[in-house]
Amino acid sequence: MNTSTMPNQDVHVPVADAVNTVLVDVLDLALQARQAHWAVTGPQFHALHQMFDELSTGLMEQADEIAERVLALNHVPDGRLDTIKRASHLEPFPAGAVGSAEAASLIRDRLATVAAEVRKQLEYVGEQDPPTEDILVALTQYLEKQAWMFRAQAS
Ligand SMILES: [Fe+2]
Repeated sequence: MNTSTMPNQDVHVPVADAVNTVLVDVLDLALQARQAHWAVTGPQFHALHQMFDELSTGLMEQADEIAERVLALNHVPDGRLDTIKRASHLEPFPAGAVGSAEAASLIRDRLATVAAEVRKQLEYVGEQDPPTEDILVALTQYLEKQAWMFRAQAS
């Protein structure tokens, strides 16, 4: 079979790139949630310590799902530290202890940033490759649900 006649072959490169863009942000956020799990102090310590733990673990599971979608598109995902540092859309998490209200607000903002970036990529991916769109829709639902939980926890 001629490669040019393989299904969707032409769209695989840009679709895989779009998914990798999302992967980088999700990995950065997973690391930041883990840092928040360790750094949080103050009156909401126990609840947030646990929520950040679950978020970090959940984000790593999401990252695995989308990285393996990149592989299914016949590309190798790039989740290397250098790539995250260069390409992430997130501001770095501050060093040292972080009060509970501040920690929740930092992670909430970053959840919103990643959700907005995924929605941006969805516009393109949705037109090109519905199976990949499904994975990014599920990721958006996860991120927006987490953002709601942190909003609810703070109010
Ligand atoms: Fe822990």
